[in-house]
Amino acid sequence: VVLLDQTALPVEERFLRLTTVAEVVDAIGRLAVRGAPALGVAGAYGVALAAHAHGEIPDAATLEAAVQALRTARPTAVNLARGVDRAAARLADGAAAVLAEARALAEEEATASVAMGRRGASLILSLVGASRASAVRLLTHCNTGALATVEGGTALAVAFTLHEQGRLGGMLVAETRPLLQGARLTAWELARRGVPYRLIVDGAGPYLLARGEADAVIVGADRVCANGDVVNKVGTYAHALGAARVGVPFVVVAPETTVDLSTPDGAAVEIEDRGADEVVRFGRVPVAAAGAAAANPAFDVTPADLVTALVTERRVVRYDKGERP
Ligand code: MRU
Repeated sequence: VVLLDQTALPVEERFLRLTTVAEVVDAIGRLAVRGAPALGVAGAYGVALAAHAHGEIPDAATLEAAVQALRTARPTAVNLARGVDRAAARLADGAAAVLAEARALAEEEATASVAMGRRGASLILSLVGASRASAVRLLTHCNTGALATVEGGTALAVAFTLHEQGRLGGMLVAETRPLLQGARLTAWELARRGVPYRLIVDGAGPYLLARGEADAVIVGADRVCANGDVVNKVGTYAHALGAARVGVPFVVVAPETTVDLSTPDGAAVEIEDRGADEVVRFGRVPVAAAGAAAANPAFDVTPADLVTALVTERRVVRYDKGERP
C-alpha cells in the first residue's frame, strides 16, 4: 500500500510503502493517513495486505487478528471499521477478491466526492442568498480534501466546486490544534488549487463569524448519528455555536459511509483521546510548564440542533426543516 505521509506535509511530499498489516495500523494510529473516508479505504487495503500475506495462505486466526487490529486502529470514524468489514467479507473468496473490494471502495469514495461537491455547492448558494452568491466566503475546520478522502473531498469538494464556478470569495481555514490539519493540510490543498484563503487560529472562528466574515461554515464528519448529531474534529462544536449565535448556516458534508444509523446519538460514540503529548508540545517543542496535565479529545459532538443541513452524495438532509438522517 503506497500512501502520501500526511505527517510530513507541508514540508515534504514523502510516500510510504506499507507491506504489512502492522505498518498500516501504525500509519493509521499516527495519522500518516487520516480523514474518515481515507481511513475506510486504508483499512480495506490493509485487509487486502493481510489476505495476500506475501504469497502464503494465512490461517484464519492470523486473518482475524489482522482484521481486529485494523478496525480498532482508531475508534471514532465509522468509516474505518466499515471499510475493514467490507473487505473482510470477501476473505473467503481469496486475496484478489479482497483487493478488488478495496479498489471498489476507493472508486466509490472518489465518485461520491464529485456528487457531494455539486450538491453542496448548490445548497450553499441557495442558503447564502443572491447578494452573496457571486463571492461566497466559507469557514472550514480540519482537513476534508483529497488527503482525507481519495480524490476531491467532502466539505472541501464544495469549496473546490464553488471555486471552479467562479463563486468562491475566499476561505477562512481554522488551523485545527493540536495536529494542525487545517494549517498543514487544508492550506496546502487550497494553495495547490489556487483557492484564496486565510488561516486563522481555532478560537478566532466564532468571533470572525460574529464580525460577518463568513457566509457559511462547511465541515466534514467522522460519524453522523441517527439523531443527526455530528462527530467531527475537536473545535467543530465551537464554530457551530458561533454560527448559530449569528444565524450563519452550518453545513456538514459527508459520504453515506460516514452516516451511522446504528449509533443513536453523539453520546454513544467513542471519542478518541490522543493523550497529553500533542497538547503540551508544539511538534517537538514543549509549550507547557513541565509536568502540565492535559486533556486531548480528538473529536467533539455538534448537536443536531446546531446543524443547518447534511449533504451526502445521495441527498441533502435539511435539519433546519426538521429532517434527520
Ligand atoms: O483526526 P483526523 O485528522 O483523522 O480527523 C479528521 C476529521 O475530523 C475530518 O473532518 C473528518 O474525518 C472528515 S474527512 C473528509
